[in-house]
Amino acid sequence: MESYQKLIENNKNWVKQKLDLDPNFFADLASEHKPEFLWIGCSDSRVPADQITNTKPGQIFVHRNIANLVVHTDINLLSVLHYAVDVLKVKHVIVCGHYECGGIAAAMSNKSFGFIDNWLTNIKDVYRLYQAELDAIPSIRERQRRLVEISVIEQVNNLSKTSVIQEAWKRNNMPVLHGWVYDVGDGLIHDLNVMRSDTNEVQNIYIFD
Ligand code: CO
Repeated sequence: MESYQKLIENNKNWVKQKLDLDPNFFADLASEHKPEFLWIGCSDSRVPADQITNTKPGQIFVHRNIANLVVHTDINLLSVLHYAVDVLKVKHVIVCGHYECGGIAAAMSNKSFGFIDNWLTNIKDVYRLYQAELDAIPSIRERQRRLVEISVIEQVNNLSKTSVIQEAWKRNNMPVLHGWVYDVGDGLIHDLNVMRSDTNEVQNIYIFD
C-alpha cells in the first residue's frame, strides 16, 4: 500500500471508532458549526491545533500559515478572521507559535531560501523592533525561542490593529485575543499572558474611531 492510501484506510478506521462510541457523531457535527475559538497557528505538521488541545471536530476554527503570521495584506487570513468574528462569533482568537519554528530560524539567518524570503521578511521586521533585546542573547537557540515569543506578541498586536477586531470590540467587547507558544519538545502550551479585549494597548495611530 502506498503511504497516501494508508491515510484513506486510517480515515475508515477513525469513522468506525467514532460511530462505535457515538452513532450520532457525524450527524450532530453536520447539523451545526459553532466553534468558540479561532486558532492561528504554524503550518508545521508537529502542531495540530485539535490534537494538542485535545478538542473534537467542531470546536476550533483554524487558520495556519508559515510561522503563524498576521499580515495586514493577507486576504486569506483576513477573510478567515472576518468570518470567524462576524459570522461564527468566536469568543477567543488564539495566536499559537511554537519553539523550533523553522520559519523563525530561517528569518533570523541571512540565508536565502527562495520565494519564501518575502514571507519571512515579516519576521525580520519584528526582529528589527526588538533588535537590542534579541542581539543581547548570546545563545542562538535561546534567541530563536525569544523571537518565537516576541513574534506571537506582535501578531496579537497586528490582530488588534485590524478593523475586524476593533469593530467587534466596539460592538460587544469580543473576541478576546491570546498569545501562546507550544513547545514541540515536551508538548506543553505556554500562555504568554497577552490577553487583549480592548484598544488600551493599541498605539493611537492604529485606532479607528
Ligand atoms: Co513553525
